[in-house]
Amino acid sequence: MAERVEVLIPEEEVNRRIHEIGEQISKDYAGRELHLICTLKGGVFFMCELAKHITVPLTMDFMCVSSYGDTTKSSGVVKITKDLDEPIMSRDVLVVEDIIDSGNTLSYMIEMLQERKPASLKLCTLLDKPERRRKPVNVDYTGFEIPDEFVVGYGLDYAQRYRNLPYVGIVKFE
Ligand code: IMP
Ligand code: MG
Repeated sequence: MAERVEVLIPEEEVNRRIHEIGEQISKDYAGRELHLICTLKGGVFFMCELAKHITVPLTMDFMCVSSYGDTTKSSGVVKITKDLDEPIMSRDVLVVEDIIDSGNTLSYMIEMLQERKPASLKLCTLLDKPERRRKPVNVDYTGFEIPDEFVVGYGLDYAQRYRNLPYVGIVKFE
């Protein structure tokens, strides 16, 4: 099926908002050290840009999770395909996500990370589709709330493509 991508949030706007969030996080965590956890692969572009604008000392780790079975309908059952390299016990942890859709993946992840007893655990997402939420998720920092459309770019993919687009776009199927 042929598809094209229409710009939803232009590059300058995405970057400007990420810089703002970085400044806010720097204020909120002043005097502390922050441990960023990025979910692969979609969160990588956002985390890199965000980290450049955080002024408190920080470290990073990566985790890869995927929903079991059907990829278009989230089952709510989540599998860790790459776990963190380091323990998070007693650290100030901030999870950095590309997008929250149903909330299934994150609500599972947050619960699992809480069991590891971090000093604090907060959540930052570039995009949020609130209309689609099925499981409640407490989001501390949101880049943009977007309508219920399938989006790509800035780390987000359609069939593994378009992650490298410097803007957020809507996929249109012709
Ligand atoms: P959730 O568990 O339903 O919240 O699913 C979140 C995951 O689904 C995200 O981390 C993305 O990998 C994927 N996803 C949800 N919506 C989109 C979209 O519009 N474009 C690309 N990936 C999406
Ligand atoms: Mg993701």
